[in-house]
Amino acid sequence: MSALDQIVSQAQKAFEAASDAPSLENAKAQFLGKSGLLTEQLKGLAALPPEEKKTLGAAVNQAKQAIESLLLARRQALADAELISRLSAEAIDITLPGRGHGLGSLHPVMQSWQRIEQIFGSIGFDVADGPEIETDWTNFTALNNPLNHPARSMQDTFYLEDRDETGLPLLLRTHTSPMQVRYAKTHQPPIKVIAPGRTYRVDSDATHSPMFHQVEGLWIAEDVSFADLKGVYHDFLRQFFEDDHLDVRFRPSFFPFTEPSAEVDMRFATGPLKGRWLEISGAGQVHPDVVRNFGLDPERYVGFAFGSGLERLTMLRYGIGDLRLFFDNDLRFLRQFA
Ligand code: PHE
Repeated sequence: MSALDQIVSQAQKAFEAASDAPSLENAKAQFLGKSGLLTEQLKGLAALPPEEKKTLGAAVNQAKQAIESLLLARRQALADAELISRLSAEAIDITLPGRGHGLGSLHPVMQSWQRIEQIFGSIGFDVADGPEIETDWTNFTALNNPLNHPARSMQDTFYLEDRDETGLPLLLRTHTSPMQVRYAKTHQPPIKVIAPGRTYRVDSDATHSPMFHQVEGLWIAEDVSFADLKGVYHDFLRQFFEDDHLDVRFRPSFFPFTEPSAEVDMRFATGPLKGRWLEISGAGQVHPDVVRNFGLDPERYVGFAFGSGLERLTMLRYGIGDLRLFFDNDLRFLRQFA
C-alpha cells in the first residue's frame, strides 16, 4: 500500500473513532490541517522534478478528496446519530394518561360555615362580616361588659400594642357578638342577620383552640320574642343535622348582653350520640342596655341573639372527638370531608 493510501486508511480509522463533532474536527486537523499528514506530503512536492511532481500531485489531490469525502460522510453520520438520540430522548408518549391536577376541597369547618349561611339565608337572614381586631368597647363594653366586670375573665384574649382613640388596647375579638353592635348601628330594624367568623381566646385543649369560629345571630324588631328564638334555632339545628326529631332545650344561664340568657342544649333522635343532651350555643333576649348601644329605643325594639361554635357544630355532625384535628392540616383527616 502506498504511503498516501496508508494516510487515507489512517484517516478513515481516526474519523470512525471520533464519537462526536469536536473529536472529529480534531481528527481532521491531523490530516488536512496546516501541519497535517497530507499537508506535509504536499510540502514535499516542491523539491521533486516536474514529471514526478505532476503524478504525485494528482495522487495527493485524490487522497485529499478521499479524506474530505470520508470526513463529510462521518460528519453526516454523527449528526444523524445525534438527532436520532435526541428524538428518542425527547419523545412524548402520547398514549400516556395526562398528569391531572389534584383538586382541593373545603375544610369541614368551612363546609359548616356555608351550610349555616345557606340555612339562615333561606329564612331571610342577611350575612355580615366584620373585623377580627376589635376595640374594647365593641367586644366588651357595648355588650354590657364594662372594664373590670368579672364576666370578662371568661374571655381572656390576645391584646395588641396599638390602642384605640380612648387609649385602650385593641384586641382579637373573643366572640362574634361585637358584630351585633356593628351591624345594628349601621342598619335599620327589622334586623335579621348572622355573622360567622374567626374568634380568639387564650384557651387550648381537646375542645378549645386559641383560634376558633363562631356564628352570631341577631334578630331585632318590634315583636320578636323568645319563642321566635326557640323556633328559629330549633329549625336551624334540625336542618343542619338533618334530624327532624332532634330535641332542643333552653337552660338558664348568664351573659352580660342578654336577659334572660340561656344555654341551648340539643339531643339527637338517631345516631351514636342519640339521647344525650349536648351543649350547643349561648343565646338570649338582647339586654335593653345593649339595644340602647345599638342606637335604638329598647322600649320599642326587642329581639334575640345567639352565638354558636362552628367547630362544635362540625364535631357533632361528624362525630369528631378532638377539635385540634381541624387545625393539624393532616390530609388523611381532611380528605374524609372532600
Ligand atoms: N358571645 C357568647 C359567647 O361567646 C355567646 C352568645 C351570643 C350568648 C349571643 C348570647 C347571645 O360565649
